[in-house]
Amino acid sequence: MKVKNICCIGAGYVGGPTMAIIAQKSPEINVTVVDINEKRIAAWNDPDVEKIPIYEPGLAEVVAEARGRNLFFSTDVDAAIDAADMIFISVNTPTKTYGMGKGMAADLKYIELCARQIARVAKNDKIIVEKSTLPVRTAEALKRILDNTGNGVNFQILSNPEFLAEGTAVTDLHKPDRVLIGGDLDTEAGREAIQALVDVYGHWVSDDNILTTNVWSSELSKLTANAFLAQRVSSINAMSELCEVTEADVQEVAKAIGMDSRIGPKFLKASVGFGGSCFQKDILNLVYIAKSFGLNEVADYWEQVILMNDHQKRRFAAKIVKTLFNTVSGKKIALLGWAFKKDTNDTRESAAIYVADYLLNEQAEIVVYDPKVTKEQILADLDYLGTRSEEENRKLITVVNSAQEACKAAHAVAVMTEWDAFKTLDWEAIYEGMLKPAFLFDGRRLLDKEALTALGFEFYAIGS
Ligand SMILES: NC(=O)c1ccc[n+]([C@@H]2O[C@H](COP(=O)([O-])OP(=O)(O)OC[C@H]3O[C@@H](n4cnc5c(N)ncnc54)[C@H](O)[C@@H]3O)[C@@H](O)[C@H]2O)c1
Repeated sequence: MKVKNICCIGAGYVGGPTMAIIAQKSPEINVTVVDINEKRIAAWNDPDVEKIPIYEPGLAEVVAEARGRNLFFSTDVDAAIDAADMIFISVNTPTKTYGMGKGMAADLKYIELCARQIARVAKNDKIIVEKSTLPVRTAEALKRILDNTGNGVNFQILSNPEFLAEGTAVTDLHKPDRVLIGGDLDTEAGREAIQALVDVYGHWVSDDNILTTNVWSSELSKLTANAFLAQRVSSINAMSELCEVTEADVQEVAKAIGMDSRIGPKFLKASVGFGGSCFQKDILNLVYIAKSFGLNEVADYWEQVILMNDHQKRRFAAKIVKTLFNTVSGKKIALLGWAFKKDTNDTRESAAIYVADYLLNEQAEIVVYDPKVTKEQILADLDYLGTRSEEENRKLITVVNSAQEACKAAHAVAVMTEWDAFKTLDWEAIYEGMLKPAFLFDGRRLLDKEALTALGFEFYAIGS
C-alpha cells in the first residue's frame, strides 16, 4: 500500500522535527501534525518561521520549505485521524508522578487516550506507529484497545522508535544511523504495514539503514539504546571523580580509552551530569520493568546509572560551596547555560536546575544566562521541583540577557551548558568585573584552563 496521508499526534520535540523531515522528503504525502496544546500549534504556524516552538539548527528552513505545501499543524485531532492512512503517536510518556510505579514507571495515560480517540474516530483501516518511547509490550495494550472498537476497522501496529538527539535533530533525521521498524512479521498484513513505513523512509534512507524486527525487540531496543548511552556518561563521570583525587585528567583518560576501537570515542565527555527528557525517564522505566519481572539484579545494575548521575550534580554544587570557603549564603553565583545541552531550548531534567536548587538551599543568589531559554521557563523549572515557594524562587533567581551581565560582581561563575558562544566570551572583562578571588567552575570541560588561569581565575573543571 502507498501512504498518502500521515497524521502525527504530538507536536513536540520528536513529532515536530520528524514530521517536518518526512514532509520535506516526501512531497506527495500530506503530513498533518496535531496537538491539544493550542499555543504550541499556533507557534508552529507562526508566519515568522524563526518563532516555531522548538529550536533546532536547520529546522526553521525545513519547516519553511514544507509548511503549507504538504506539512500542516492543527488542533483538529479528529479530522487528521479520520483522513490518515498512517498515524504516528508521538505524545509524551513521562515518569509517573502518582500511584503504582510512582517515580519509576512510564505514565501511559496520554498514549491510551490517543488509542481511544483513534478507536472512536477511525472509519477505515489504519497503520498505527508508536513513535513515543514505550515500555516493551505496549503495542499489545494498544491493539486490545483498538481492536475493541466494534466498527470493523483493522489496525496494524508498528513500533518505530526515534533515535534523534536534540541539538542535532535535523542532521540525525536526514542521515539516521538506522531506522528501526518493529511489526508483525508473521502475517501478510503485518509485513505490508512494515513495507508501507519502509517506503516512507525510503524517500531518503537507504534500505541498508532500515532495520525490521518484531515489535517487542523494537520497543526494547529504544530503552536499551538510551540506557547504554547514559551508562557511558555515568561511567566516565565516575572516573572524573577518581581523576580529581589522583591527578589524572579525565579528558586524557577518555581520549586514551576512546581510541580503542572496541570502546570508541563518543559519549565519553565528563560533565556535571546528563539531562534531557529521555535518559533518566527511560532508565527508570527499564528498572521498573525489570523489577516487575522479578529481575532485581538487572534493575539494580541499571539504577546505578541514575544514582551516579544524581551524585555528579550534587557533588558539583558541593564543590562550589566548599571552594567558596564553605558558604555561598548571600553570594552571587552566575550560571552560564540552563538548557540540558547546547543547541536546544529544551530544559527538561537539565543539570542546571538541580545545581541551582542545591545552591539556593545554601542561600546563594543565582543569576542565569542562557542564549535560548526564557526566564519563564527557568522559573517554571524551579517551581516544578517544589523545594521552596514561587515567591522565594523569584526573590533568589535573576535571569539576564548576556553572560557579561550575569557575571558582573559575581563571586563565582559556573558553566552549565556547553554553548559554543561561551568559549569566546570576553573572559578578561568578565574577570575584571567579578569579586576576587574570581572562581570559575567548568561543568562541561568547555573552557581553556591555562588561558583562564593566566587571566587570574581560580579555575575548577570536572575531572581534573
Ligand atoms: N525529546 C527527544 O529527544 C526524544 C527522542 C526520542 C524519543 N522521544 C520520545 O518521544 C515521545 C515524545 O517526546 P517529546 O520530547 O516530543 O515530548 P513533548 O512533550 O515535547 O511533546 C509531546 C506532545 O504531545 C502532546 N499530546 C499529549 N497528549 C496528546 C493527545 N491526547 N492528543 C494530542 N496531543 C497530545 C502534548 O501536548 C505535547 O505537545 C516521548 O515518548 C519521548 O520519550 C523523545
